[in-house]
Amino acid sequence: MKIAIIGTGYVGLPSGVGFAELGNEVCCIDNNLQKIEKLQNGELTIYEDGLQELFERNLQNGHLRFTSSMREGVENADLIIIAVGTPPHPITKEADLQYIEAAAEELAQFLNKYTVVATKSTVPVGTGDKIEQIISRINSKAEVDVISLPEFLREGFAIHDFFAPDRIVVGTESIRARKLIAELYKDFTTTKILYVNRRSSETIKYASNAFLAVKLNYINELADFCEKAGADIDEVAAGMGADSRIGHKFLRAGPGFGGSCFPKDTNAMSFMAHQFGISMPLIDTTIAENEKRQLSMAERILSHTTTDSAQIAVLGLAFKNGTDDCRTSPAINIVKEMLKHNRNISVYDPKAMASAQTLLGNEVTYAENAYQAVEKADVVTILTEWNDFKLLNWEKIANLMNQRIVVDLRNILDEKILLQAGFKYYRIGKKM
Ligand code: NAD
Ligand code: UGA
Repeated sequence: MKIAIIGTGYVGLPSGVGFAELGNEVCCIDNNLQKIEKLQNGELTIYEDGLQELFERNLQNGHLRFTSSMREGVENADLIIIAVGTPPHPITKEADLQYIEAAAEELAQFLNKYTVVATKSTVPVGTGDKIEQIISRINSKAEVDVISLPEFLREGFAIHDFFAPDRIVVGTESIRARKLIAELYKDFTTTKILYVNRRSSETIKYASNAFLAVKLNYINELADFCEKAGADIDEVAAGMGADSRIGHKFLRAGPGFGGSCFPKDTNAMSFMAHQFGISMPLIDTTIAENEKRQLSMAERILSHTTTDSAQIAVLGLAFKNGTDDCRTSPAINIVKEMLKHNRNISVYDPKAMASAQTLLGNEVTYAENAYQAVEKADVVTILTEWNDFKLLNWEKIANLMNQRIVVDLRNILDEKILLQAGFKYYRIGKKM
């Protein structure tokens, strides 16, 4: 199948590589010329576990190509996937559809045969109708089905999630479009494919992200409860998760959820609800509490310092492990909050140094490795759950530091090792 993907970011790139690996002829389009040039030269533009090998193979065998020309990518495609960003509006926080609308306007000119246009970007309910209207306004002869094909991949697991999704949701009532999508996923014999109407599909995407965000807010609230009650959040989560109706996933307490999606999509859902004349207090509370939590985490770290010039070493800047993405990262928010009170912060992340630098500028000291970051530090804090941090030599770190205090906001380190090395070790959701 000939597939064009518009938008070559955290969704478009792994998806393009995945569809190419399945044997399709994939052309990825992006209007960021620098990005396209790098990709054409065989250089990845994001870090994503497991992507490199598949990218190189499909570039070499010709299944995958990159262009900045909409015409070149879209002409003669059987399927066009829209995967451009839908960032939050800076004031209203609704999903900003300018990139979707621009992509629809541009692609419409080049439709010359029956084509399915599938929206993988996360878009407000009713966006499929808008795209349809744009296309028919610009190219009234276009033979097209506009469908919703929401993406559920997680960063850091994008390749795994592409090849082994929990489900595939297809939002269209067109039999012809459903047949084309069935053909696209013909090798996914064990995956449930749900065919629903377009608005249900658009809703499923927001509903799923908002549900997971509420679950995370709940486990974080429980962590606060455990700290007061003398319970242990990891034990409580294990006990709750063993109930199959609750499940073990998404019960890791932390500094609050972040990333380019949960904060954005909960806000967009709340905005849509208000537009429909209803309110969703559960979601509104989740948004507010999650923002408050990150500020309180900054206070928590600072409470372990005695002066404003104490040195704080931050390990982890990405919003989660397995990615270099720092968009709406709790780690970045926490560092920014701490900077209001303390200007002596050194940082290190195994993959996200470049993207963090675009957000933190020269406000912090960037270390080349974890050992350099902790030199002479009074407090070390873990803000991203990288495996690398578990494998550090904590005896060595103890000797490099000024004081031996670790505030682990991801509960990933081995308490025994830390105590043996002489640290005071503070975690989330445990008795203080
Ligand atoms: P991104 O910012 O990484 O990538 C978007 C890309 O689109 C950019 O490279 C940009 O240059 C390009 N672009 C914008 N307008 C264009 C145009 N008119 N023509 C060609 N290229 C254009 O964004 P992302 O993280 O990949 O997210 C894309 C969408 O997918 C969003 O709606 C997001 O909510 C959704 N989503 C993201 C994830 C995730 O894990 N990041 C998962 C599921 C769904
Ligand atoms: C999330 C969803 O999991 C994907 O299904 C969805 O496709 C995607 O958003 C999207 O729409 O963009 P992602 O943002 O990549 O994926 O990352 P998650 O693994 O969901 O983590 C989100 C945040 O929650 C991170 O800050 C992470 O550290 C935090 N988290 C997650 C916890 O604090 N505890 C957990 O148990 C799980």
